[in-house]
Amino acid sequence: MFQNICGDHQTYCNLLDGNWVKPTSGDYIEIFSPVDGSLVGKVPAMSREDVDRAIANARENLKNWAETPIYERASIFYRAADLLESHAEEIAHILTMEIAKDKKSAVYEVQRTADFLRYTADAGKGIAGEAINGDNFPGGSKTKVSYVSRVPLGTVLAISPFNYPINLSVTKVAPALIGGNTVLLKPATQGSISALYLARVMQEAGLPRGVLNTITGLGSVIGDYVVTHPGVNFINFTGSTEVGKHISKLSAMVPLMLELGGKDAAIVLPDADLDFAADNIVSGAYAYSGQRCTAVKRILTQDSVADQLVPKLLSRIAKLQVGDPRDNAVIVPLINTKAADFVMSLIDDAVAKGATVLTGGTRNGNLIQPALIDHVTTDMRLAWEEPFGPVLPILRVKDMQDAIDIANRSEYGLQSSVFTKNIHDAFFVASQLEVGTVQINGKTERGPDHFPFLGVKASGMGTQGVKYAIEAMTRPKAVVFNLDANSQ
Ligand code: NAP
Ligand code: G3H
Repeated sequence: MFQNICGDHQTYCNLLDGNWVKPTSGDYIEIFSPVDGSLVGKVPAMSREDVDRAIANARENLKNWAETPIYERASIFYRAADLLESHAEEIAHILTMEIAKDKKSAVYEVQRTADFLRYTADAGKGIAGEAINGDNFPGGSKTKVSYVSRVPLGTVLAISPFNYPINLSVTKVAPALIGGNTVLLKPATQGSISALYLARVMQEAGLPRGVLNTITGLGSVIGDYVVTHPGVNFINFTGSTEVGKHISKLSAMVPLMLELGGKDAAIVLPDADLDFAADNIVSGAYAYSGQRCTAVKRILTQDSVADQLVPKLLSRIAKLQVGDPRDNAVIVPLINTKAADFVMSLIDDAVAKGATVLTGGTRNGNLIQPALIDHVTTDMRLAWEEPFGPVLPILRVKDMQDAIDIANRSEYGLQSSVFTKNIHDAFFVASQLEVGTVQINGKTERGPDHFPFLGVKASGMGTQGVKYAIEAMTRPKAVVFNLDANSQ
């Protein structure tokens, strides 16, 4: 799909004003595969001047795009969805090599992105305004009517993380575009080749020039410049809490959507179906080596339950395929050495303070065997920090209230699960947990993607999910008719 666009088939360009352009500096960043160390490709290291051009161009095209009928915007999305499906294998292969996502999950990410585009196209056609009569409010009059429509915010900066470079780009780009905004997409550097494929698909589907421009380059080098650029009207960021907080300090008076880290708890009550809970917890915790914001990141349960649950977890963990994502392994090499070092430091700290490693936790390069760690206590880092790796701690609690209290002591508040057959307990626990979403008898997960998806506390602000994201990236515009003006 990218052949002959930038010359050498391993050198990628950025989308600017409908063209694939090289960086003015001539500098590139080499992207190596976490799977085998091979070179996946080179992406432009954009300079500030390149960023200025991309933003200026996106702003120049605002008016035309905002005036493009929504059904025309939607028809581009349908074509893009078809293109994604017809190139699914090619794009999934890039994903697998660039971020070590297993083949099956990579194909699913592409399919999920196509589904998201179609759903967003349909939802966009439902964007509607309202008319509000003045006499609904005391002292108001029937002769005043507010006609309220939804209009775009302007130019949206979409910053996506490494773990879903296509899907977590489209969940920002598509709702922004259908709402009439122009978009600058800054993907994670490790993941940017996959994200450039998404941009290529959108271009091929007929997106007008300058409506979507891409920016590649290290966040640590150009990030601050991009997020403080006066040409940006909204920042839609998914990534770590550390970078999210940094951006929120820098961005003055620019609205933000932040989807950040998590420490999702699985609370298992004594009456739960433990086989069912174990199935959900293991797939929830270890898929893609736990490199998911919504991964189950701690189990909170009482001694009596833990003693029965542990063998069920262990038998399932033993069946997880470890190794090469091209062979569909679930446990794959982590994204880089720094990430693997960090996971090992959490395990080492827990062990030094008396936790028991029931399985896994050994390392070969950046591949870490899936670890289940029991008797983790609240003085250990593993009780609180987000590993973003294949390690699951069990914290033994006194009772249901203790589980709720420990769950809520986390700085994070993305999701939590509660496993129980008692509907009253399920709703009580759900009502007490300080998170965006509680899953009753199910693993923590983002989808389906039209559900609201949000974090509270250090897990973020603002709400994703198709309808919510469109609302966040459009605003009401009120025009008040004063019907008796001529008679005065
Ligand atoms: P990250 O290191 O925070 O990077 C996220 C994005 O921010 C990347 O595009 C990165 O670019 C960019 N960036 C870095 N510094 C920046 C700066 N100063 N200004 C602007 N942008 C900057 O996160 P990650 O390692 O890719 O992803 C893992 C984290 O994301 C985990 O904490 C996970 O929980 C979280 N996450 C949350 C959700 C959610 O929906 N809640 C979903 C997925 C992931 P570079 O790659 O060039 O540095
Ligand atoms: O990494 C964060 C993603 O938003 C998680 O999505 O629950 O579908 O894996 P997921």
